[in-house]
Amino acid sequence: MRHIRIFDTTLRDGEQSPGVALSVPQKLEIAHGLARLGVDIIEAGFPITSQGDFECVNRIAREVKGPVICALARTNKADIERAAEAIAPAEKRRIHVFTSASRVHLEYMLRKTPEEVLELSEAMVRYAKEFTDDVEFSAQDVMRADFDFVKRLYEVAIAAGATTINLPDTTGYGVPQEYGALIRRIRDEVVRGRDVHISVHCHDDLGMATANALAGVENGATQIECTINGIGERAGNTALEEVVMALYTRRDHYRAETRIHTREIYRMSRMVERYTGMVVQPNKAIVGDNAFAHESGIHQDGVIKNKETYEIMNAEIVGRQAAVLVLGKHSGRNAFRKALAELGFNLPEEQLQNLFLRFKEIADTKGALETDELRALVESESVNTPQ
Ligand code: KIV
Ligand code: ZN
Repeated sequence: MRHIRIFDTTLRDGEQSPGVALSVPQKLEIAHGLARLGVDIIEAGFPITSQGDFECVNRIAREVKGPVICALARTNKADIERAAEAIAPAEKRRIHVFTSASRVHLEYMLRKTPEEVLELSEAMVRYAKEFTDDVEFSAQDVMRADFDFVKRLYEVAIAAGATTINLPDTTGYGVPQEYGALIRRIRDEVVRGRDVHISVHCHDDLGMATANALAGVENGATQIECTINGIGERAGNTALEEVVMALYTRRDHYRAETRIHTREIYRMSRMVERYTGMVVQPNKAIVGDNAFAHESGIHQDGVIKNKETYEIMNAEIVGRQAAVLVLGKHSGRNAFRKALAELGFNLPEEQLQNLFLRFKEIADTKGALETDELRALVESESVNTPQ
């Protein structure tokens, strides 16, 4: 099995979610949580952007043990020096140097010619190497850039000492086959068997960040950049919990593994939700409220007989309670009987049948019934008492 490194950027790209500002204690707690989760690299921040960001990266570098601590820098000396100073106390440190690759970025943001970008990238990767051996290089918006230029950029970055090359689909423009093909060409035409990690960094503007990242893994990537709950700029980044559980659940297909302690996933998801205020949608894969809930009678009946009928993974493996049967208008008699039995009501068949009809009437207008409401329903009909 190939080892896929998990590079978590919740504290950097994730914090770039509109409206999110984490305090230093919150960031520290998240960073400790990420270390417990077993991520390989924590991108702790972008130190040049503010004194607060610098101090936060610096404290994480001092206090959080285990993962590599990484700081972001543009291709200029001041950024790199600030990043290097912030991560200096870490046992393992990385500087992530980035530029841009697409024509629109060069013309309107960098205001530089392709030759200038090549020259600066080479010089600044070399400069970052003076502070640490572990240097990552990225060029934003590779999916919309000219491949020959992308190829030259990554070639000079490797020549200058980059040990990880990251290919950001900054605008979430790529589709899986195309992004996968790009990674394959970079592997075959740029890396060519050298000891350099290829990293994927995908945004979710078209809802394909997870699919694109996994296409990258199938084509040679050995690092995935992602965030808890998929938070990040605009529609967000690849969700950590999705790629990790896809690699785990479909290890037969990917033949690759991460070092994530999956039982910590749910706890981390809740922590990030609480601190960022970004509420996880109920149907969100892996961590959403409904991700392990079954409502329809057919599904409930199947799950009661054998969980594998409608579950491809156990809720417990991501640190959640066992799957729940939601009692709503689509539910069946078996699930209803089981729920009542769990509340201590073992009713004769005829009473159960009458109650079931009453339950259906209520659920039809109201939606799902909570435990208390179920209990009240039985007691109001006063057919039995808990045993
Ligand atoms: O999306 C992006 O291009 C980034 C880079 C800084 C890696 O976040
Ligand atoms: Zn990004």
